[in-house]
Amino acid sequence: MERAAVILCAGQGTRMRSDIAKVLHEIWGQPMALWSIKAAIQGGAEQVIAVVGHQAERVEGTLKKYIPELAFALQAEQNGTGHAVQQAMPSLQNIEGTVLVVCGDTPCLTGSALKQLCEAREETNAPLALATAVVPDPTGYGRIVRDMLGRMRRIVEQKDATPDEREIDEINTGVYAFDAAFLRENLHRLEASNSQNEYYLTDLIELAFEKLGDEESLPTLQIPFEEAMGVNNRLQLAEAAQLLRAQILHYWMQNGVTMIDPATTYIDASVDIGHDVILGANVALRGCTKIAPHVKVETGCVVFNSRLDSGAVLHPYTLCEEAIVGADANVGPFARLRPGAELKTEAKVGNFVEMKKAILGEKAKANHLSYIGDATVGAGSNIGAGTITCNYDGFGKNPTTLGENVFIGSNSTLVAPVAIESNAYVAAGSTINHGVPSGDLAIGRVRQENKKGYADKLRARFQRRKNKNG
Ligand code: UD1
Ligand code: CA
Repeated sequence: MERAAVILCAGQGTRMRSDIAKVLHEIWGQPMALWSIKAAIQGGAEQVIAVVGHQAERVEGTLKKYIPELAFALQAEQNGTGHAVQQAMPSLQNIEGTVLVVCGDTPCLTGSALKQLCEAREETNAPLALATAVVPDPTGYGRIVRDMLGRMRRIVEQKDATPDEREIDEINTGVYAFDAAFLRENLHRLEASNSQNEYYLTDLIELAFEKLGDEESLPTLQIPFEEAMGVNNRLQLAEAAQLLRAQILHYWMQNGVTMIDPATTYIDASVDIGHDVILGANVALRGCTKIAPHVKVETGCVVFNSRLDSGAVLHPYTLCEEAIVGADANVGPFARLRPGAELKTEAKVGNFVEMKKAILGEKAKANHLSYIGDATVGAGSNIGAGTITCNYDGFGKNPTTLGENVFIGSNSTLVAPVAIESNAYVAAGSTINHGVPSGDLAIGRVRQENKKGYADKLRARFQRRKNKNG
């Protein structure tokens, strides 16, 4: 049967106390609403419509970046969840089957729960099926009112509930599977006759019974509270993030990733990790990072939008941002790879080395205290301690090119633009500001002079001065 989904993302989220729309607050690298959207897709929705309102352009622009085929409906004024779904109806005129409605602020929902809910409706051809949950503290949620036979009769919102009804601990998760035709025929019948003067989607239940008759019942599916939790404030945001973090870590551990300390391991939703990867304590893998099998990421590393190839090792406290670390390459400890840094196979970057927009060729090394920016370093070259590429002249960036098997002596400055050809040799402490041909030795420093026996004379003179001055 055909399935579509409507994701409610129009609300402001006042309780977040934020300048950013609630549904755009990120959890593990993706906006909150994207979690619900992905769950709906996993639940079988072929068409997904997000209803936007508060900060509509920004919400739409952000979500489209992740899922370009997403459709949008505008709810200019937020007059309630029922009113929100009405705005999506023009896109749902032709669908026969199930329309899932999910809130954009329930990021812990799973695709399998949504699928089960659709099936519960489709098997009975009911006008709607509802996902509920039993919770320790139902404050703020709509309560499920059941009759003496245990059949769900209606939902009452916190603000409209009597003290007795507030005692009910089974809540509306805000997740519904509707028969598309039922939705089309009844949405416009909702009335805003409640304490918030809003069109409540939940009132459709009473309308469904009007059609079915009181003897009938509507299917409900109880899901674990953890999956149902709605995020209305920052405490719940943190709580949801912890639940989702545990899920992400479990998934990777089940897929062959060793975590030295799961309590301090942070992995974003769109990270991909191969088997036999070892993650040390306090590691954060962020964005679209992709890690091949047999990689080791040691304590304290942060990796963002980067690619680590098979056998690569990040030693402790390395920061990688939009970088590529080739197979069996080594980085750190205390190294910083900035955007555009790339290490080829078995290349090596040691402590306190910074790379930006630079390629370090196969087996090339920069082991200590260097800055390599806007540079290409050929295979097998060695960059001595303290070498700096002077890539910036105050106006623009200039390139440094090193051929293969070049040796750069320690504490050299390479003033770009400059090219040092293969097998050339640069003496330690040189300032290189013009090209070095292949095989040549460049010495760019003041020639050393030794003054015979002068050390003793100097000491004697200094001693006399000290005595005189007391
Ligand atoms: C809603 C339900 C409540 C349920 C709870 C579950 C109603 C009337 N109440 O209450 O029964 O227990 O969710 O989390 O449906 N939204 C719009 N347009 C609007 C109003 C809301 O798009 O005009 C969106 C919000 O952005 C949010 C979602 O709908 O993503 C839920 O709205 P919210 O105001 O948080 O509803 P609750 O009070 O939590
Ligand atoms: Ca809510």
